Amino acid sequence: MRQAGRYLPEYQKLRQKHTFVEMCTFPDLAVEVSLQPYRRFGFDAVIVFYDILFLAAAMGAPLEFTDQGPVFRQPIRRRPEVESLRQPDLESLEPAVGTGAILESLRRIRAEVPDGTSVLGFAGAPFTVASYLVEGSFQRSGDRIKRLLHEDPELVHGLLEKLASVTGEYLAAQVAAGADAVQLFDTWAGLLGAADFREFALPYQKAVLDRVAQTGAPTILYVKGGAHLLGELAKSGASVLSLDWRQSLPEVRRTLGAGIGLQGNLDPASLFAPPETVKQKVAALLDSMQRDPGYILNLGHGILPETPLASVEALVETVRNRE
Ligand code: CP3
Repeated sequence: MRQAGRYLPEYQKLRQKHTFVEMCTFPDLAVEVSLQPYRRFGFDAVIVFYDILFLAAAMGAPLEFTDQGPVFRQPIRRRPEVESLRQPDLESLEPAVGTGAILESLRRIRAEVPDGTSVLGFAGAPFTVASYLVEGSFQRSGDRIKRLLHEDPELVHGLLEKLASVTGEYLAAQVAAGADAVQLFDTWAGLLGAADFREFALPYQKAVLDRVAQTGAPTILYVKGGAHLLGELAKSGASVLSLDWRQSLPEVRRTLGAGIGLQGNLDPASLFAPPETVKQKVAALLDSMQRDPGYILNLGHGILPETPLASVEALVETVRNRE
């Protein structure tokens, strides 16, 4: 999950001088911030610094990052608004709306880190990006998007189709630019029951993941609060499922069998425990997965601001001591 950010003093130092949008869209800054956690902790993979919502900005939806999180000031709820979303020029370096920055950052990061370190690209899945576009601002209940699914399913399908085709090309371009694997974040798909998930999330995840599969790069699919959707997620075509802390990974492994990778799922809040306790928790998670070759240890969601650095160190040390 997120590696960089507000828990790192070196990130905060740069952040005082630049806006979040500048940090993401100026490759000099984005590369520096992407590499900060790698330099400090030596993770096995580097995730490029950017945000899932810039692709929607590149399609023409005006995006702002406020203290309360991302905001689309002109939410998309009617047909002309869906139709106005355009095909982006993925290589464009236009400030704040050009996705060329993530591609350039990936090229530079790939050139900078050793072959044995993986470089990860990412995008938001169509349902999650559509949720932000329809809601307008950050929310947890998804009232607006869920209402629209039932009021005007055709409109939502039109929006999701558009997002899926652009997102597939976008991730393929990230692979061409140097990403060894890509992660698709469907953070909000867990708001849906299984039937709505099968109609509004799964087919579009699949369309994106199928496009990436043509490049040969492995894919990681993250859904928050998706325990009730496990059987469906396994049908997405993702090489790896990234799961939150609500599920027991050994149980998931028993249910799904050995054919799929699993990533997760330490609760980010648990890093607020003393380092010794963090070590015990990480060791217990590793023990529970019994050297499963298809398992990637990670958090179950993004790292929280103010997370103690000593906890991240304790996590990395515990994993390294097992190797
Ligand atoms: O992991 C990394 O270091 C890569 C960068 C990354 C960010 N966002 C940077 C970011 C990644 C992979 C994301 C993904 C993302 N962005 C998701 C999917 C994963 C998840 O967390 O569920 C979502 C839903 C978003 C949308 C988004 N961006 C929200 C809701 C917020 C505000 C909430 C928050 O955590 O602050 C952002 C802003 C954002 N994106 C920050 C970072 C480091 C914080 C900005 C700051 O420093 O002020």
